[in-house]
Amino acid sequence: LPMAQDDLKKIAAYKAVEFVESGMVVGLGTGSTAKHAVDRIGELVQQGILTDIIGIPTSTKTHEQALSVNIPLSDLDAHPVLDLAIDGADEVDPDLNLVKGRGGSLLREKMIEFASKKFVVIVDESKLVDHIGGSGLAMPVEIVPFCWKFTAKRLELLFEEADCVAKLRTCEKTGEVFVTDNSNYTIDLYFKKSIGDLKAAGDAILRLPGVVEHGMFVDMATTVIVAGDNGVTVKNK
Ligand code: A5P
Repeated sequence: LPMAQDDLKKIAAYKAVEFVESGMVVGLGTGSTAKHAVDRIGELVQQGILTDIIGIPTSTKTHEQALSVNIPLSDLDAHPVLDLAIDGADEVDPDLNLVKGRGGSLLREKMIEFASKKFVVIVDESKLVDHIGGSGLAMPVEIVPFCWKFTAKRLELLFEEADCVAKLRTCEKTGEVFVTDNSNYTIDLYFKKSIGDLKAAGDAILRLPGVVEHGMFVDMATTVIVAGDNGVTVKNK
């Protein structure tokens, strides 16, 4: 029988937590996969197996979860260099480049994972893609709310050749605009054709006034742990 997707997420998460050692400053990711890692770290802290851990949460949601399992927390101002960060991803390509942010937390994730000596990504095998942005699913961009339609239009124009459609993210339940932890909006980009070189695409997005950050994490992951029906694979950069 194929394993349930959530079981695979948990297997990848537990494997990543094996990299956590006492005394480490650890970035705590956001999403349904990272949640298992945070729970596991909390369990090991409460059992006294991991000591002197400091967690740096990548969202208000993870902050609350980590507090509930008694992980001592701090922030990037106090700890500008992290030993390790563990987080999920929406897409992973063969070079370990990622799309992140469908869960809405890409800015804090990117700041914290950028500051980490090691960044371990945990996914089930459904997240593996040949080309980032080619899945037909959203590539998120965090933008300031001011004149968001202008920024959305400029993003579409930037990727005109990739037949890009830009959509403002709304909450599924309420239909209201989705507001990030940083009081910003999210534009989800959908491409029909290739976006070409990822670094060039990312840099072009960042040059647009109104953009805060995008969800392509290029050359950031040092390890990707993939859980699938045939077991766990650890890929290193
Ligand atoms: C949060 O903003 C995202 O970057 C998540 O890390 C990503 O969406 C993966 O989430 P799941 O583990 O829930 O698939």
